[in-house]
Amino acid sequence: MFGHERRPAARYTVSEGKAAGRPHYRQEVSKSSPLLRPILDWYAANARDLPWRAPDATPWSILVSEIMLQQTPVVRVLPVWTEWMERWPTPAALAAEPPGEAVRHWGRLGYPRRALNLHACARAIVERHGGEVPADHAALLALPGVGEYTAAAVASFAFRGRHAVLDTNVRRVFARAVSGQEYPPKATTAAERVLAESLLPGPEDAPVWAVAVMELGALVCTARTARCADCPINDRCAWRLAGKPAYDGPARKGQTYAGTDRQCRGRLLTVLRQAHGPVPKAALDVVWDDAPQRERALDGLVADGLAEVLDDGTYRLPS
Ligand code: ADE
Repeated sequence: MFGHERRPAARYTVSEGKAAGRPHYRQEVSKSSPLLRPILDWYAANARDLPWRAPDATPWSILVSEIMLQQTPVVRVLPVWTEWMERWPTPAALAAEPPGEAVRHWGRLGYPRRALNLHACARAIVERHGGEVPADHAALLALPGVGEYTAAAVASFAFRGRHAVLDTNVRRVFARAVSGQEYPPKATTAAERVLAESLLPGPEDAPVWAVAVMELGALVCTARTARCADCPINDRCAWRLAGKPAYDGPARKGQTYAGTDRQCRGRLLTVLRQAHGPVPKAALDVVWDDAPQRERALDGLVADGLAEVLDDGTYRLPS
C-alpha cells in the first residue's frame, strides 16, 4: 500500500474571491517542503513490507501494531502481532476474554501494561463504538492507553487522516534534518509539534509522509549511526551540513535491563503466564534471589493489575 504510492506534490487552491470587479481567480499555493518528494520517493523504493501496512490491514490490526511497536522492535512484534490477529481479529473477540489472556499472549514484548491497555481498549471500542475502531482523533485519544502518538498514527494509517505523527524516529529525523541537532529533546516539546505541523503535507500525502519519515528514522537515520550516504535528504540535512556536531545535551537513557525491577517483573510474569491456574508463592520465589526486590516487583504487578493474589496466597493472571 504505502510502499507503492507515488503522488504528485500536494497543491491547494486558495480562493481569492471576487475583488473590485476583477474576475474570480484562484491562486495555487504549494504546501510541500523540499523534504517531501525525496522522502516519499525513498520510501516507495525502500519501505519494509510489514503486514500492518498491507492494503487489507484493518484499523484494529493497525491499532494493535502501533501499541506493540511503541517500545518494541519490529522483529519482536511480528510473531506476537500475527498470533494476536489470528486469535483476536476484532476488538469484540479480545473484549470477550478476561484481561489475563491478553497478558498471557503478550509474549516477550515487554512493558506488559500495554496488553492490559489493549484489552481495555477492545472493551471500550465495543461499548462506545459498536465494535468498530473510531476514525476520529479525539475519540481515539479517549480510549484507554491511547496517547497523542497512537491516536495520530491510527487516524493517519488506518483512516488516512492528516495528522503530525511524532514518534521517536520521526523526532530524530526532524531534529537532525531541520534543527541541526543529533537528538531531539527528551520529551516532545511544543516547538517540535509546531515544526511537525509546518512540514505536514496536504491530505493526499500526509499518511504516507508520516510512515515514510518514520521508516527513514528506523532504517537510515538511526539513533546509533546515521547512514548519511543512503539518505535521500543528505544534501539538505542541517545536522550533516553543520559537520554533524556531537550531542551535548543531558545524558541519554541507557538500555540496562539485567538486574532491574523490570527484569524481575518479567520473570515473575513468565511463571504466571505459563501456568494455567493459580501459582503458589514458592513457585515465584525461585525465579529471583533478591527477596526484597522480588516482593516489590510482585506487589507492583498486583498494583498494576497484571497479577491477582487470591485468599489462599496463590497468584494468577487477572481474571
Ligand atoms: N509502520 C506503521 N507504524 C509503524 C511503527 N510504529 N513502526 C514501524 N513501522 C510502522
